[in-house]
Amino acid sequence: MLILALETSCDETAASVIRGENSKIEVLSDIISSQVKLHAKWGGVVPNLAAREHLKNILPVIKESLNKAKISPKDLDLLAITQGPGLIPALLIGTNTAKTLSYTWEKPLLGIHHIEGHIYANFIGEEKIDFPVLSLVISGGHTQLIYMSDHFNYEIIGQTQDDAVGEAFDKVARILDLGYPGGPIISKRAAQEIGDYKITLPRPMIASKDFNFSFSGLKTAVLYLIKKNEDKKKDPEFVQAVCREFQQSAIDVLIKKTLAAAKKLNPKTILISGGVSANKELRQQLKEAITTELPNTKYLCPELKYTGDNAAMIGVAAYFRCQYNKNNISDLDQNWKSIQADANLKLC
Ligand code: KG4
Ligand code: ZN
Repeated sequence: MLILALETSCDETAASVIRGENSKIEVLSDIISSQVKLHAKWGGVVPNLAAREHLKNILPVIKESLNKAKISPKDLDLLAITQGPGLIPALLIGTNTAKTLSYTWEKPLLGIHHIEGHIYANFIGEEKIDFPVLSLVISGGHTQLIYMSDHFNYEIIGQTQDDAVGEAFDKVARILDLGYPGGPIISKRAAQEIGDYKITLPRPMIASKDFNFSFSGLKTAVLYLIKKNEDKKKDPEFVQAVCREFQQSAIDVLIKKTLAAAKKLNPKTILISGGVSANKELRQQLKEAITTELPNTKYLCPELKYTGDNAAMIGVAAYFRCQYNKNNISDLDQNWKSIQADANLKLC
C-alpha cells in the first residue's frame, strides 16, 4: 500500500511517501521544509506567517516527495493529512491542498490526529508493538501520558495543567536570550561547563499522586532567578548551569510520573514521542530508569529524525488505521468532502 502524507500543523511543511505491507513500513521519502529561521526573529511561531510559507512550499514539497520516492500520483492508494490540532491558518493550507488532490487525483483521503502521528512515529522500523502501551507525548503543544490498551484505543491518564514541556524549554530560552526553538539550544548548553555554580529549581507536582504535570511555575522560577542575577546573564557558565538544572528538573518530573503510571498500569511497552523526545539526556535517563525499575517493560523512542513534526509519522498512522480496519479504504473516496481542519481536534 502506497500513501502520500502531508503535515502542516505548525511551522514545518512536510510530505512523505510510505509503503506499508503487513507490519513492515518503508519510508520512501520524507521531505520537510522548516520555517524555524523565519519564526526565530519573533521568538515563536507567527500563525499567519506560517500559513504564507506553507502556501509557498507545499506543492514543491509534495513534488519533491513523489520524485524522491519515484512514485507518480496514479500509483498511490491513499492520501493522509494532519487534520489537527495545530494552528488553524497552517492546518487549512494542508487540508485544502489534500482535499483538492484527493478530488483531482481520485484518491481516498484520511484525516489524522497530529498526536496520533507522533505516537506512531515509534512504529517505523518496529515489526511488532506489544500492547498495552504507555505513551509519553512531549512536544511544544502537548505533555500527556496516554494509555493504549490496543491500536487507536487511547486514554489520557495525565497531562499538563498549564504549559507544555516544549513550551517551557522555548520560554526559558527566551528568558536567557538564547533564541528559538529553545529545546535544542538548552540541551546543548546544559551539556557544557558550569564552573562552581550550584543552582536548584523546583520539580513542580513531582510528589502529587496523579499523573498530571505543571511547567509554568518552573519557567517562572527561572525568570525570578535571572531577575535576581541580571549581572550573571552574560556569564556562559551561569547560563549553562541554569540550562542544566532546568532540563534536569523537567526530566525528573517526566520520568517520575511515567514510571509511577507504568507501575500502576503494567504496560508491556513504554514509548516517548514529540519534539522534546529528541532530548538526549531524557532518552538516556528514562532508558536507565526503566531498565532498573521495570526490566520486563520494553522502551521505545523514535529515531531522532521522526521526533519533531514530519509527514512520515502521519503516513504510518494512516497505514495502521487501514491495517486494523479502523478505516476501510473503499469508504474514503468521498472523504475529501467532510474533512475539516480542527485546531482543537480531540484524540479521544
Ligand atoms: O513535536 P514538535 O516538533 O512540534 C509540536 O507539535 O509542538 O515539538 C517542538 C518542541 C519545541 O518546543 C522544541 O523546543 C522542543 O520540541 N524540542 C526539544 C528538543 N528538540 C526540540 N526540547 C528539548 N530538547 C530537545 N533536544
Ligand atoms: Zn508535533
